[in-house]
Amino acid sequence: MSELAADIIDTFETPGPPDGCFAETVTEIEHYSDRLFRFRMTRPASLRFRSGEFVMIGLPGDRPVFRAYSIASPCWDDTLEFYSIKVPGGPLTEHLQKIRPGDTIWMRRKPTGTLVLDALLPGRNLWMFATGTGIAPFASIIRDPESYEKFEHLVLVQGCRQQADLSYAQSLAQAVPDDPLVGELACGRLKLITATTQERSAMTGRLTTCLTDGRLEDAAGMAIDSARDRAMICGSMAMLKDMCDLLVGRGFVEGSNARPAGFVIEKAFVG
Ligand code: A2P
Repeated sequence: MSELAADIIDTFETPGPPDGCFAETVTEIEHYSDRLFRFRMTRPASLRFRSGEFVMIGLPGDRPVFRAYSIASPCWDDTLEFYSIKVPGGPLTEHLQKIRPGDTIWMRRKPTGTLVLDALLPGRNLWMFATGTGIAPFASIIRDPESYEKFEHLVLVQGCRQQADLSYAQSLAQAVPDDPLVGELACGRLKLITATTQERSAMTGRLTTCLTDGRLEDAAGMAIDSARDRAMICGSMAMLKDMCDLLVGRGFVEGSNARPAGFVIEKAFVG
């Protein structure tokens, strides 16, 4: 085959990214179950983001489907990590779950999001409530030194259906003490609390139930106090609504990038 023909076929097989997109390379994949996986990819040199923000990612193709994904790695990291659900028949995740190291992923250039420290007023403890893959933005925040500069304690709370769904959070929490940047800072100041709804565990029940009946604060060894504490929530629409109602009922005020306040929310990626 002539060089020109090879070039043409190459161009055909791997179309260039649309305007405003980076083309990055997958470096690592870890499957936790038939429902959950994480992957890493190269980071564009020009990408700047704040820990907790999300980007739109898609796979190369004529009609690429882009979905919002929280960046699960902290803003200082050389590579980008993402944590994803596998939705059977899902327009993106059905294909994304099959990626291998060396594959290309397209990523729109502009990161955004409200689960950022800037959207919260200064406070004492930071509570992060996640269900399912809603833990991804918090995986970034707990690995950012700024979080420990701004807050005395970080409490990461994850609710899932089954214990196996908690593997990602558990391995994150286990790895933090050895993290060269935040390991020392996080010592005795980061707490992971987990709950399951469809399998018995140390804490069984929805996060909303565990907050209401006091088990969550008991497990954390501290009470949530809207006057001094700050919170972030990431999960399904129903979970966001119910958690919001609970926090508002406890005196928390919702904030945004433009108007920092007591808590912020964001819908977790689902499709
Ligand atoms: P449940 O099993 O009772 O529905 P999913 O995997 O569907 O995204 O759910 C993740 C976790 O979020 C599950 O444990 C689920 O509990 C829980 N959940 C679903 N809706 C709510 C809600 N409104 N408030 C709190 N937790 C919720």
